[in-house]
Amino acid sequence: MKFFIDTANIEEIKKGIDMGLVDGVTTNPTLLAKEKKDPQEVIREIVSIVNGPVSLEVISKDYKGMCEEARSLSALGGNVVVKIPMTEEGIKAVQTLSREGIKTNVTLIFQPLQALIAAKAGASYVSPFIGRLDDISERGMGIIEDIVMIFGNYGFETEIIVASIRNPVHVLEAARIGADIATIPFAVLRQLIGHPLTDIGIERFLKDWETLKNKG
Ligand code: G3P
Repeated sequence: MKFFIDTANIEEIKKGIDMGLVDGVTTNPTLLAKEKKDPQEVIREIVSIVNGPVSLEVISKDYKGMCEEARSLSALGGNVVVKIPMTEEGIKAVQTLSREGIKTNVTLIFQPLQALIAAKAGASYVSPFIGRLDDISERGMGIIEDIVMIFGNYGFETEIIVASIRNPVHVLEAARIGADIATIPFAVLRQLIGHPLTDIGIERFLKDWETLKNKG
């Protein structure tokens, strides 16, 4: 299972890389806006420091605009994956871009048939947003189970990125289902490592070691 970091914050990406937990990065316009910097500069830096796929999203809504944006984004580096929203225009663009050898990540997927259509169009990745489904009282992880089964039925090579992850349990469930990738906010990535009993255990070991040293 691969871990992507879901952020446009350079410091978080660098820390995640240092932790050895970053197989790739996903961004979106909201995450870039949060940085309050020139988005083009931020994008270039992310593409240059990450040794793995970096998803960058188009902002055009029409087929022609999406394709043009995708071509210039993909020229930024061999690791760029172009994020395309799941719309009729988006699916047309994915078909064209896939024929041109440009990698795509179809985003804003909220039901399994959207993922099937994206895979048929030649998407490299699909991004179902599970947290946002949980938010409206639908079981987000249910669509991951369905997509894993559907892709398995037909041998699609499209990889499933579990997105809109809000907590470690989401990552655990994605791993149990066998999703290819979880894209994880930095705070949740750190939570995956720690456990209060680990900290208490270390404290206790060190305290006991000190008592032994005093005897010597
Ligand atoms: O990867 C998609 C993610 O950025 C959306 O997350 O928390 O805005 O639903 P959220």
